[in-house]
Amino acid sequence: MGAPGRVALVAGCRTPFAKAGGPFRDLTAVDLGKACVRELIERSEVAPQAVGLLVMGQVVSSPRAPNLAREVGLGVGLPPGVPAHTVNRACASATQAVADVALAIRDGQAQVGIAGGAESLSDVPILHSRRMAHALVEAGRARSLAARLAPFARLRPRDLVPQTPAIAEPSTGLSMGQSAEKLAQERGITRLEQDEIAYRSHVNAGRASDDGRLPAELCKVYVAPRYEQVVEHDGLIRRDTTREALAALPPVFERRYGSVTAGNSSPLTDGAAAVLLMSEERAKADGYTPLAYLRAWAVAAVDPAGQLLMGPGLAIPAALERAGLSLADIGLIEMHEAFAAQVAANVQALASESYAREVLGREQAVGQVDWERLNVCGGSIAIGHPFGATGARLLTTLAHEMRRRDVGFGLVSVCAQGGMGFAMVLER
Ligand SMILES: CC(C)(COP(=O)(O)OP(=O)(O)OC[C@H]1O[C@@H](n2cnc3c(N)ncnc32)[C@H](O)[C@@H]1OP(=O)(O)O)[C@@H](O)C(=O)NCCC(=O)NCCS
Repeated sequence: MGAPGRVALVAGCRTPFAKAGGPFRDLTAVDLGKACVRELIERSEVAPQAVGLLVMGQVVSSPRAPNLAREVGLGVGLPPGVPAHTVNRACASATQAVADVALAIRDGQAQVGIAGGAESLSDVPILHSRRMAHALVEAGRARSLAARLAPFARLRPRDLVPQTPAIAEPSTGLSMGQSAEKLAQERGITRLEQDEIAYRSHVNAGRASDDGRLPAELCKVYVAPRYEQVVEHDGLIRRDTTREALAALPPVFERRYGSVTAGNSSPLTDGAAAVLLMSEERAKADGYTPLAYLRAWAVAAVDPAGQLLMGPGLAIPAALERAGLSLADIGLIEMHEAFAAQVAANVQALASESYAREVLGREQAVGQVDWERLNVCGGSIAIGHPFGATGARLLTTLAHEMRRRDVGFGLVSVCAQGGMGFAMVLER
C-alpha cells in the first residue's frame, strides 16, 4: 500500500443558528441534523449509496435518540447499510466527527463520508431526582396497587423538583461562564478587550451575512409539524450592536466584580452543520473541486481545575507542528468564541514567550495572531454556538473563505469542556 492520500473537504452546509427556545423550539437535534445533511447531499449531488460513513457530534444527547447520527442517516435516505455513530468531545464534537471520518478515509474503510453535528438546547433532557427514579423503578416492579404507591409516599418535596443538565464541569462544579470569569481575572483580560472581540464578532458576521457569504452556507429549515414556518436566516447576529450597549451589560457569572456578560459570551443555540469529505482520488475521479484538504490536526487537554478554556493554546502549536507549519504561514483562522475572554487569553498565550517556555517547553512564542485574519465572518458570540455543530460550521466557513481569498493554509481551533482543545489545519 502506498502512502495514504489526502482527505478532501468537498462541501459544507449548516442550518441557520437560532437562540435556544426560539424558532427551532419544537424541533429536535435529529430534525436539525436531517435538514442540513439532506441539503448537503442534494447540493453536492453525491449519491447516497456512495457515502460510506456518517459521524455526527452532539453534546447534550436525548435519551430518545442517543445515536443521533444513525437517526439522521436513516432519516435522510442514506442506505440502511451505511454505518453511523455519534461522538461527544464537548464543543469540539463536530471537529472530532471530521477527524473520525478522515481517519476512516485514510485507512481505506470509506472513500466518501459525511461529518458534522447537531444540538438542540431547546430539547435538553429534564431529569428526575435519583430518589424519584428509584421510586419509579420500585413501583414498576410492584404487584399490587398499595405496593405501587408505597415508594412515592417516601418521597420528599425536593425529590419532585425536575433537574436540567448544567453547563458545568462535573469535576469542579464550575460553570463554563464562571471558568471564563476565572480566566479573565487570572490572565488580566479586561472588560474592554472582551467587548471589543464581541463587537468585531457581530460586525464581521453582519457584513458576511449582508454580502451573502454566510447565507451561502445555510439551508432552509421547514419547521415541523405544519411546515409552514421557514427559517432561512441566522437569528442571533445583532447588526445594531454598539460598543456602548456592550459596555452597559451587567456581568452574569460574577455579578459584583465580573466582566463576562451576555454580550461577550456565546449564546445558547439550536442548529446543525455538516461537511462532505472524500479521498482526494475519489473527489478527482468524480469531478469534484475540493474546497480544501485536511492537512493535520491535534487534540490537547489541560486540567479543568486550572484554566479550563486554554486547550487551544496547546492544541494550536501541536497541530501546526504536525502540519510542518508556523503560525505565520496561516492566512486565516477560525477560532471558536465560547467567550471573548477565552479568545483573548489564547491569543495572548500564543504570543507569550513565558507561556511558550513554561507551558509548551519551547523557547519561542508560537506567534502573534493577526486580528484581521481571525474570525473574518464573525464568530460564535455573534452567530451562535450549537455545541455539537460548531466545529463543522468553523471548517465550512474557513474552507469557503480560503478559496475566496486564495489562502494556502487555514486554522480552526475549538476549546471544549473538560479542558480540551482541538485544532485543525486546512490547506488548498
Ligand atoms: C450568558 C447567558 C447566561 C446569557 O443568557 P440570556 O440572559 O438568555 O441572554 P440574552 O440574549 O437574553 O441577553 C441578556 C441581555 O443582554 C442583551 N444583549 C446580549 N447581547 C447583546 C449585544 N451584543 N448588544 C446589546 N445587548 C445585548 C440582550 O438584549 C438582553 O437584554 P434584555 O435583558 O434587556 O432583553 C447565556 O447566553 C449563556 O449561558 N451563555 C454561555 C453558554 C456557555 O456556557 N457555553 C459554553 C461555552 S463553550
